[in-house]
Amino acid sequence: MALDMIIGAQWGDEGKGSITDMLAAQADIVARYGGGDNAGHTITVGGEIYKLHLIPSGIIQPNTVCLIGNGVVINPATLLREMKALAERGLDVGAHRFKISRNAHLITPGHIALDKAKEASRGEDAIGTTLRGIGPAYTDKTSRTGLRAELFDAPEELADKIHEHIHAKNEILTKIYGAEPLDATAVAAQFADYGQRLQPHLVDGSLLLDAALRDDRTVLAEGAQGTFLDLDHGTYPFVTSSPPTAGGVLLGLGVGPNKVGRVIGVAKAFSSRVGSGPFPCELEGEAAVRLRGTGDKPWDEFGTTTGRPRRVGWLDLVMLRHAVRINGFTELVITKLDILSGIAKLPVCVAYDWQGKRSEHYPTDIRVLAQCKPIYEVLDGWDEDIMGVRKLDDLPANARRYVAFISAQTDTAVTHISVGPGREQMITRSQ
Ligand code: GDP
Ligand code: IMO
Ligand code: MG
Repeated sequence: MALDMIIGAQWGDEGKGSITDMLAAQADIVARYGGGDNAGHTITVGGEIYKLHLIPSGIIQPNTVCLIGNGVVINPATLLREMKALAERGLDVGAHRFKISRNAHLITPGHIALDKAKEASRGEDAIGTTLRGIGPAYTDKTSRTGLRAELFDAPEELADKIHEHIHAKNEILTKIYGAEPLDATAVAAQFADYGQRLQPHLVDGSLLLDAALRDDRTVLAEGAQGTFLDLDHGTYPFVTSSPPTAGGVLLGLGVGPNKVGRVIGVAKAFSSRVGSGPFPCELEGEAAVRLRGTGDKPWDEFGTTTGRPRRVGWLDLVMLRHAVRINGFTELVITKLDILSGIAKLPVCVAYDWQGKRSEHYPTDIRVLAQCKPIYEVLDGWDEDIMGVRKLDDLPANARRYVAFISAQTDTAVTHISVGPGREQMITRSQ
């Protein structure tokens, strides 16, 4: 069997968690390949709502093995909190089914303090990070000073490395940002405790996945963030510090491209983004509230990790075509189609106007992107509530046209359409 990938096609929060949960029913292993607890994945099963940040969404299915891959940056405090909360709800997070790659990197209070200090110092130009220490942790990784989970195997070395690390961060915090220093001894004691509790979960992630794939088992790679938050292919510098795109899956799990099967792009039926940066189809005022909701429903557009209202806008097919190309999607899943019910006219961006010229392509330079005006094609909407629909033929004709339009414009098959947050609120095209 193969490595199938689930990848966010927009700016994150496309509903990857609920798609992973659904497809995990047929997977043997679900593996997170990047990001950290900046991610927030909400999964609804039979009225139960689970909010996950680090543990792969496959954990809700009873028999799936879950792996945090080497590409992830782990805040052990968040992870242990999440494990405890899931265990209290009766889910099995034991070491026999929940595993952590030895070469995943750790996030410390030093990284978090630096993320906060850097964001504060950026003022008006702030990226709007989740303040979870993600950027500083990946910076340490690439500058070869990071701390890897394998240190949990060597408590004395861990203590020495934490002291060294916190002293180095304190220099920057106090001398550059005028912030308070951290207590290295207290952090070392915390990490000694985390190490004891997490060490039994450590594995060679690449070896585990290779054995499963040789044994004809299915591995599902679960994405965090989305294509336009990719460090290389997103709206740089308003991006995260890791590659959420298809290339990042191979790097973040240690699996070769010859093992790849389906590359599943997940896109919302409209657009959303949290944090700063250009957003050509962004809506303001009443129209934005209509798509965002007011926060009274669990699926309204407010960040799972930070609670911030998400910026929202119409669907952008220029972006989606770019995402198809960068990731090589073999199929698309469209989520939240139900949110568009009752909107009479649905503008969909098919090209950009840049300085009077029409362009079908997404510009790599955000100074150009910031000047692009969307060129919309306006599709007719539908009135019916579609949250109970389970078959394509039962969707209103205009809803089917909306999905067919996305498929034609991106030249990619739409295999699933999600019409609600529940596991069963899904239309599968073969039905
Ligand atoms: P992720 O980060 O990509 O996993 O997405 P989030 O979980 O952050 O945000 C998606 C939100 O939409 C969550 O609250 C989901 O429960 C919800 N959701 C997912 N699919 C659908 C859908 O088809 N319709 C509705 N109404 N909500 C959905
Ligand atoms: P999921 O997995 C939406 C955004 C932040 C900020 C930028 C950089 O739930 O789709 P960071 O803390 O990563 O340095 O912040 O990236 N961001 C997300 N936006 N969904 C996410 O994850 C995100 N993870 C990071 O809001 O703009
Ligand atoms: Mg999310």
